[in-house]
Amino acid sequence: MPAFRTARAKATAIDCDVLAVPIYKGAVAGPGALEAEKALATSFKDLLDAARAKGEPGEALLVPALGKLKAKQVLLVGVGEKGGGATAARKAGAVVARKTGASATVATTIPQAVGGPVADAVGAFVEGYLLGGYRFDRYKANGTKSRTNTVILAAGRGWDDRVVRKAITLATVLAEGTAFARDLTNTPAGDFTPHSFVTQARRIAKGLPLTVKVLNEKELRAGRYGGILGVGQGSDKPPRLVEIRYRPAGAKRHVALVGKGITFDSGGINLKNDGLDWMKMDMGGGAAVMGAMLAVGRLKPKVAVTGLICTAENMPGGSALHPGDVITMKGGKTVEIGNTDAEGRLVMADGIVHAVQNKADVVVDIATLTGAMMIALGEKAFGVLGNDQTEVDRMLAAAERAGEKAWQLPLYDEYRKKIDSDIADLRNIGDRYGGAITAALFLKEFAGDTPWVHIDIAGPARSLVDEFDTPKGATGAGVRTLVRWIESL
Ligand code: BES
Ligand code: MN
Ligand code: ZN
Repeated sequence: MPAFRTARAKATAIDCDVLAVPIYKGAVAGPGALEAEKALATSFKDLLDAARAKGEPGEALLVPALGKLKAKQVLLVGVGEKGGGATAARKAGAVVARKTGASATVATTIPQAVGGPVADAVGAFVEGYLLGGYRFDRYKANGTKSRTNTVILAAGRGWDDRVVRKAITLATVLAEGTAFARDLTNTPAGDFTPHSFVTQARRIAKGLPLTVKVLNEKELRAGRYGGILGVGQGSDKPPRLVEIRYRPAGAKRHVALVGKGITFDSGGINLKNDGLDWMKMDMGGGAAVMGAMLAVGRLKPKVAVTGLICTAENMPGGSALHPGDVITMKGGKTVEIGNTDAEGRLVMADGIVHAVQNKADVVVDIATLTGAMMIALGEKAFGVLGNDQTEVDRMLAAAERAGEKAWQLPLYDEYRKKIDSDIADLRNIGDRYGGAITAALFLKEFAGDTPWVHIDIAGPARSLVDEFDTPKGATGAGVRTLVRWIESL
């Protein structure tokens, strides 16, 4: 992981391989760029014009310093309009990371250029740098060279060291939690089974104030977790419920995070015929809970947090659920299986009931639950629904601070009858319409009177393009929002 520190010296006096400076829209030099331009006796505007760059986010032009600066090279980085705030800093951080991953020492004045509170600008730049520099190269012949460069943030006027330090720490923890979730989610299903969640949970709990409790098949049977067991019964890799507890002294509130950990979603007997290459990532919600718990263990907030990962593999084996089967869920409600591919809500319902029975004050669930949510919101935003508008609002605000796109959908009572069953209490599918909402209405039945927020990350859990802080592949969607939400309690 790169290390970050601040320096009081003038940007042009900092010894480094690359000095990254901001360029506003219209090729206007920002803080640090003006001084570098003068020292180089050149016109950045001419250089940018020649490269057809205008100062837009995403643009970066490397200029050799030819011994006229302490830096060996200057990187001109587009930051868009003045006052771009945290979003501009996050994007620029990611661009700088991609261009300077191999440079030992990088200095930058970019956080000075975007306006807004210093902590937000610094935090977003650091987050962007760490997340934009993320690579999953474990399976490459010459991969896993971890990046260990140093990034020096040139301090602006009036920067408070303590505030800046704190922002760097928070951003680093958020980025590490996100990178951890990405690693788990990118790992192929052949190498990541329900048991892998157990191994990884125990690994992160070491050295942090976290304890791990695991329910194996026998214990799941004894506790009547019919949803998790039902989904897992078609696979020869047994299901698990993994519980990670954080219990600080004197906590007044207790929140539970429930994640969908389907390590491969074949659809079951309702076998998918499309998009199966995605389905190793159907544990992205569980991975987000793992990443959030890693961050919680490091940040040590004042609230008690329980992370629950409902993990199983959805396979069409000889003992798999049949369409038409009726299963009894944790808590006693019965569910008719209309479609074995609507498995996420089955494992999640058991996790939600477990959290409610363990007296969580608020339950948040996060899952790659429905293709319908991707149809509704596209691939870049997650959907938020819940039975408590205060907590939903708090979650939307947390997403905003985290730089993640989130949008609320309604839980109309009128749609509840879509998931009625002729023979059981509920059916696990609705009709053709409003699939993201009917899935959430199904989960709502299990939350009872406990304040509950549902996050459907089916879209943003994976990216098809490599852009800014989002690499191609698993994105770690939700980690930053969950942690920001906990920080707001
Ligand atoms: N894991 C999928 C949802 C999904 C689809 C996530 C595409 C990411 C990309 C989920 O288990 C599923 O299969 N849902 C079905 C539900 C349907 C059978 C009611 C869906 O969305 O098609
Ligand atoms: Mn499915
Ligand atoms: Zn699924």
